[in-house]
Amino acid sequence: MRENFFSLRTVMWEEGCVKMIDQTALPQRLVYKTFDSWEGVADAIRRMVIRGAPAIGVAAAMGVALAADRSRSEGRDQLLKEIDRAAEGLRRTRPTAVNLFWGIDRVVATARRAGPSVDKIRDATVEEAKRMAEEDVESNRRLGAFGAPLLDDGDVVMTQCNAGALATVGYGTALGVIRAAREAGKCVKVIVNETRPALQGSRLTAFELVRDGFHCTLISDTAVGFMMSSGRVDKVIVGADRITRDGYVFNKIGTYQVAVLAQRHGIPFYPAAPRSTFDLKRTHDQIVIEERAYDEVVRVKGRRIAPKGIPVANPAFDKTPPELVTCIVTDFGLIRSPIEQNLQTVIG
Ligand code: MRU
Repeated sequence: MRENFFSLRTVMWEEGCVKMIDQTALPQRLVYKTFDSWEGVADAIRRMVIRGAPAIGVAAAMGVALAADRSRSEGRDQLLKEIDRAAEGLRRTRPTAVNLFWGIDRVVATARRAGPSVDKIRDATVEEAKRMAEEDVESNRRLGAFGAPLLDDGDVVMTQCNAGALATVGYGTALGVIRAAREAGKCVKVIVNETRPALQGSRLTAFELVRDGFHCTLISDTAVGFMMSSGRVDKVIVGADRITRDGYVFNKIGTYQVAVLAQRHGIPFYPAAPRSTFDLKRTHDQIVIEERAYDEVVRVKGRRIAPKGIPVANPAFDKTPPELVTCIVTDFGLIRSPIEQNLQTVIG
């Protein structure tokens, strides 16, 4: 068995600060940034220094813990108010990935349950955020083990965006399945869609797969249909930012067209996501799709590639309806078709 665990941690609590890989510097430079305020963590999430649904969930949780840990409040009520203010600020960073809200809510609830002592509240929030980081890696490992049997030796698997170690605390969701398949002795090749406009595929997925010695091929997003129609893709695995109770999978922009093309060519389409990505309270029409800066579309490396004044749309995510999904891989098993019905029975 070959050890292929991406050994870096994306985000961690270290000496009273939140430390994270600066994903804006990849693939050229692997550097860390350290934050000692929740405002700094919020800014890092907004600017995508850290990104990926599970990773921003844990980072936001650590941001709340940072607010508690650094607070000079002497009474419970005042401390809880400060925690709420940080939570509110962190909630406003990015709207689509539900893990962000899940991470914040979990630490806030821990603070409220911790009793009257401010020291206990501080310790409990920090411990909870650290625990969430550990749990993330464990749940990705479980998810990988459930998903690995879906891949056959020799498969070529396409992926969109980055749902790897860099999008989580470690190991990854979609890439976790690919890692687990390799750990089970299978040879799996990966096709990496570049994922315009922020290029998470070429900058991040390609970075971690090359670093871990995977056979991978980078393609432009416009090559997806041709690769499928010429028989060069066996399966598709993607991550998710939110899966609603009606079975819609929200993920990086471009995922929907990959799913449509996969169905057209009879290729299985597997989203992979932990429990924290499921939003059983909402249906797909209630979700806000983040619209990011127009500059991401009209500039490449700071250089303008479109005429001034051109109107631009830059939705960061799209939604794939359940009828295009073959099966969802989670950390508690597989959710097979009909997705909407089975989702309710498996985790409802
Ligand atoms: O805008 P990003 O880079 O945060 O978007 C990330 C994705 O869409 C990922 O595919 C998703 O969060 C799943 S990560 C395990």
